[in-house]
Amino acid sequence: MKKFFAAMFAALTICLMSACGSAAEQNPAPAEKILVAYFSCNGHTKKAALEVAEILHADTFEIVPEKIYTPADLDYRTENCRANIEQKDSAARPAIAKKIDAAQYKTIVVAFPIWWGAEPRIIDTFVESFDSAGKTIVPVCTSGGSDIHAAAKNLRGLCKGANVLDGKRLGNINRDEVKAWLDSLKL
Ligand SMILES: Cc1cc2nc3c(=O)[nH]c(=O)nc-3n(C[C@H](O)[C@H](O)[C@H](O)COP(=O)(O)O)c2cc1C
Repeated sequence: MKKFFAAMFAALTICLMSACGSAAEQNPAPAEKILVAYFSCNGHTKKAALEVAEILHADTFEIVPEKIYTPADLDYRTENCRANIEQKDSAARPAIAKKIDAAQYKTIVVAFPIWWGAEPRIIDTFVESFDSAGKTIVPVCTSGGSDIHAAAKNLRGLCKGANVLDGKRLGNINRDEVKAWLDSLKL
């Protein structure tokens, strides 16, 4: 009888151990959440950002200015239009209408149009609105032709303790190329 119970106990233990093993395989640790935050006045950056979010299965957040930019604000051929005044002032921090709890995201893709060779100042407002230490920041932009290098360098200066990647100019490459680039980052 003792032998019978010992055998039953051993069999039960093996069953439980294998059940635990398969449960762990079925429920791997949840992937870390990624946020795609974007600022876009005319839709180009929004389109690129939403494509990135779809590929990464990321949450999205639109950086909406408290004071919306009018066409006159964006008319960079007019020397003193709002966008030009802000870009000339490295301390300008246009206010954002709503906030997001960025603490829950380890990786944040920040998407913006290039203004005067760099990121719009409202992007500076955004990245300074949370503690970026330990996060990975991925800058992406759209532009008429300018690259993202100056913006990525500026963001590196603002995002203390973060790993700010080189980023990429989007809008001029197709979805497969965007996906291949995102895959290469192993986010
Ligand atoms: C104020 C302002 C400045 C700009 N400066 C540049 C620039 O320096 N280089 C460039 O290639 N494009 C520049 N552009 C063009 C935008 O980067 C481009 O049209 C972008 O795709 C717009 O994105 P959106 O539709 O998401 O707003 C500028 C646009 C504006 C409004």
